Amino acid sequence: MSVQNGSSRLSRVLLLGGTSEIGLAILSALRLEPGTEVILAGRDAQRLEAAGKALNRPVTVARYDALDTGTHQAFADEICAGGVPDLVIAATGVLIPEEQAERDVRLAATMIETNFTGHVTALLAFGSRMRERGSGTIVVLSSVAAIRPRKFNAVYGATKAALDAFARGYADALHGTGVRVLLVRPGFVTGRMTAGMAPAPLATTPEAVGAAVAAALRGSKSVVWIPSSLAGLATAMRLVPRPVWRKLKR
Ligand SMILES: NC(=O)c1ccc[n+]([C@@H]2O[C@H](COP(=O)([O-])OP(=O)(O)OC[C@H]3O[C@@H](n4cnc5c(N)ncnc54)[C@H](OP(=O)(O)O)[C@@H]3O)[C@@H](O)[C@H]2O)c1
Repeated sequence: MSVQNGSSRLSRVLLLGGTSEIGLAILSALRLEPGTEVILAGRDAQRLEAAGKALNRPVTVARYDALDTGTHQAFADEICAGGVPDLVIAATGVLIPEEQAERDVRLAATMIETNFTGHVTALLAFGSRMRERGSGTIVVLSSVAAIRPRKFNAVYGATKAALDAFARGYADALHGTGVRVLLVRPGFVTGRMTAGMAPAPLATTPEAVGAAVAAALRGSKSVVWIPSSLAGLATAMRLVPRPVWRKLKR
């Protein structure tokens, strides 16, 4: 059952990017019942097992590579054979520094495929099974970077803008089917992905993202900003004239 009305029980939850700090913080904040099956999907079984231990509950681990898009339908079919997940959290992602992506275009392709293409293929596969059943929730990790890419993150920002657009369109495609898409737009989140970077204004934590997503899942919002004040800043960001935007130092 989906959590879209805030009251239903979750039998099966799948985290794509099973070691993601934000994804794991969402799982913790959901305070899942002992009977809920949690599947952590990712590239490295050892890291996934360690993530399961940190969650302090039994988990199932599954091999999933976001780059291997040709296997995503079969992956979804295999997971769904044991029961269509009630909740899929799409948290895979990489943040490759812009200068590296510009120097080595294969890295740019890796970032695009991980942050965008792989989400589309996996979520379409799970979404169609949820639609057949008539229930389910998909959580998509977009970013404030989707709102207006900067010269410092042209490729990363583009991947997030594309994912954000897909999530909004797919949410509309699923409207009325019993399947909900929750679009999550955090700002700068301190953690592994941003290690070594100076925190941006309104920086937040994986725990704060987890709490905000759990609260949003109990309600009926389609988009959640973290922190919520970022929504206003994003509106202002859109209005900055381009010659000024271009000159910003970060
Ligand atoms: N941190 C931020 O400031 C921030 C802000 C806004 C949005 N977000 C988004 O939130 C999501 C989660 O970020 P996070 O902070 O939790 O980062 P994280 O801890 O680095 O997690 C990223 C996850 O993606 C997985 N991954 C990377 N490439 C993969 C691949 N080819 N196949 C399968 N899994 C792959 C990693 O698995 P491995 O263990 O195998 O590396 C890890 O589980 C991302 O989409 C990110 O863009 C982050």
